[in-house]
Amino acid sequence: MKSIDITGGNTLCGEVSIQGSKNAALPLLAASVLIKGITVIHNCPRITDIFSMIKILESIGCKVRFTGHCLEIDAKDITSTALPAEYVKVMRSSIIFIGAMLGREKEVSIHYPGGCVIGNRPIDMHLEALKRLGVEFTEAEETIQAKAGRLEGNEIFLPFPSVGATQNVVLAAVLAKGTTVIKGAAKEPEVTEVCRFLQKAGAKIHGIGTEILEIEGVPFLKEIEFTVVPDRIVAGTYLLAGAATRGAVLLENAPVGQMDSLLLMLKNLGAKIHVEKGQIFLNGEEAERSIPFIETRVYPGFPTDLQSPLMAVLATADGVSIIRETIFEDRFRVAKELNRMGGRIFLKENQALIYGVKKLKGMKVTAEELRGGAALVIAGLLAEGRTKIEGLSYIERGYEDIVRDLKCLGAKIEKSE
Ligand code: UD1
Repeated sequence: MKSIDITGGNTLCGEVSIQGSKNAALPLLAASVLIKGITVIHNCPRITDIFSMIKILESIGCKVRFTGHCLEIDAKDITSTALPAEYVKVMRSSIIFIGAMLGREKEVSIHYPGGCVIGNRPIDMHLEALKRLGVEFTEAEETIQAKAGRLEGNEIFLPFPSVGATQNVVLAAVLAKGTTVIKGAAKEPEVTEVCRFLQKAGAKIHGIGTEILEIEGVPFLKEIEFTVVPDRIVAGTYLLAGAATRGAVLLENAPVGQMDSLLLMLKNLGAKIHVEKGQIFLNGEEAERSIPFIETRVYPGFPTDLQSPLMAVLATADGVSIIRETIFEDRFRVAKELNRMGGRIFLKENQALIYGVKKLKGMKVTAEELRGGAALVIAGLLAEGRTKIEGLSYIERGYEDIVRDLKCLGAKIEKSE
């Protein structure tokens, strides 16, 4: 099993450039099937979730070339509407193909999607919303069959601003007949990005970045090139690592405008932050305060994807912190491993009570999911002695090369097979 070895106790110091965003890029790959021609995606991260999406695209007849960070998808000919279970099962994002394939072929068959174990993660909102556009679903064993005689615009209310459900409806609606209005849409940058991508291809979408999206169906989309924004969660992880080790970190190519809640939280920890166009500098020398209370929220609130990395930082803060998780019900798994390393974290329902300790101690730990894995990397950087993190494959789902990046910041970190 691939793992990471860290010798902790180093103060991080240096600069690192931020990769393209995983969650912004993934729906673009699905969206490419709506374009009967070539889509070029620049700054696409080379991570395993993207590789799985490419396998799905290839299996339905698309021709794909991935050179460096430039991804070229030729979706002129779609030869199948059945998505391969093997790749669908490994990632939640495969669900996004439902909307895109319906938009293109009016039908799709897909195995229930997989993804990180961070709660139940049902897809009821996706299905209910798509039904409003005229889609009929039949569910057999572990497969969903979706069909629409024709897709017709409608008004859709999302009871919760689900990122994935919003993206799915947008993808299904851009080529539908008439106008679709989504009330209660998610406002995450990853929704905005897929809307901007589709708009560039000729889609008519109003209200981008707000909770009401209005999509006027168009007959076709044209070939485009698009550049993926930098990853706000990766950027946040490296800033938290810098703060945790009381270091000085410069991020190049950071999505500055999307990171307000994290930057405020870092200042509350005691870090000094300087922001310039595309750059964030963090001085973490005094980043030692606890955070009396913070809760995860939909954008622009504190992102649930940075909750576990933050927990690792707070494990050695000076005082008691409370984190409330409001988005996913089972996202505190990493607390168990942090406690094995000497942390004092107590869980009750959706709250974690964190008593800051002086030091964590290095040991062998196991990543069970992507962001929890990133939290263990931060804990390893903080800890006394050596930490071995098994389950690197989870981390590679979202971080192109966390070892390379943290080495740029001076960490003593290696990969082992
Ligand atoms: C996306 C991100 C993920 C991030 C999350 C919240 C991708 C690939 N993943 O996930 O990293 O943590 O947004 O910002 O972009 N829900 C339902 N029924 C549904 C859909 C969702 O109950 O049909 C619930 C979920 O279980 C969860 C909440 O709604 O409790 C938010 O989920 P959602 O916004 O849909 O997250 P994802 O799109 O899965």
